Amino acid sequence: MKQLDEILKQPVLPVLAIEDPARAVPLAQALMDGGLDTLEVTFRTEAAAESLRRIRKEVPAMHVGAGTLITPDQARSALDCGVEFGLAPGLDARIIRLFQERDIPFMPGVMTPSDIQRGIELGCLCQKFFPAETSGGVAQLKAMAAPFKSFKLRFCPTGGITLANLNSYLALPEVFIVGGSWLATPQQIAAGEWARITEQVRASLLKAKEV
Ligand code: 3PG
Repeated sequence: MKQLDEILKQPVLPVLAIEDPARAVPLAQALMDGGLDTLEVTFRTEAAAESLRRIRKEVPAMHVGAGTLITPDQARSALDCGVEFGLAPGLDARIIRLFQERDIPFMPGVMTPSDIQRGIELGCLCQKFFPAETSGGVAQLKAMAAPFKSFKLRFCPTGGITLANLNSYLALPEVFIVGGSWLATPQQIAAGEWARITEQVRASLLKAKEV
């Protein structure tokens, strides 16, 4: 299976909870104006699939992924939208297989060494460390990843990442990207605060250059 770090080349990944699909295209454009070419639409909302379809159609230069894929049905729905990658808060072998069958990269969520081992067994060398901040943050990830060095795992911490702490994660060699809603919060999306979102993206990309 292709791994996620082969297609995600930027240091930050916006996790987008979109309630109204009419917001999807202007939101994707606002992110692109800030310098991003990749986004994740989370299946936390009913509008996720329709939002993904609209972004794929109207903003074809944007690489789109689906997050919070908890059931195989959600995974199928995301794949049918043409997503280029998938993520989940946890690890479900059925969902991983659905993505592997189509050779689309998938990143399961992990929080313990056992989760990491299961991910390795299933061929997932990129894993989402979730929820990062409340599970012990940078120190926890560092300690937990240490025994797996020979597998060359790469992690995407999410959960509690902000402009203030993103570089403490990006400084770890095994972290290839950090994700979260700080780049475009559900409230900002609902209010259509596009200029603010563009500015947050710019600030985060600039900050990430420091590491
Ligand atoms: C996710 O779905 O990956 C996380 O909930 C994002 O967490 P955040 O809202 O704390 O950034």
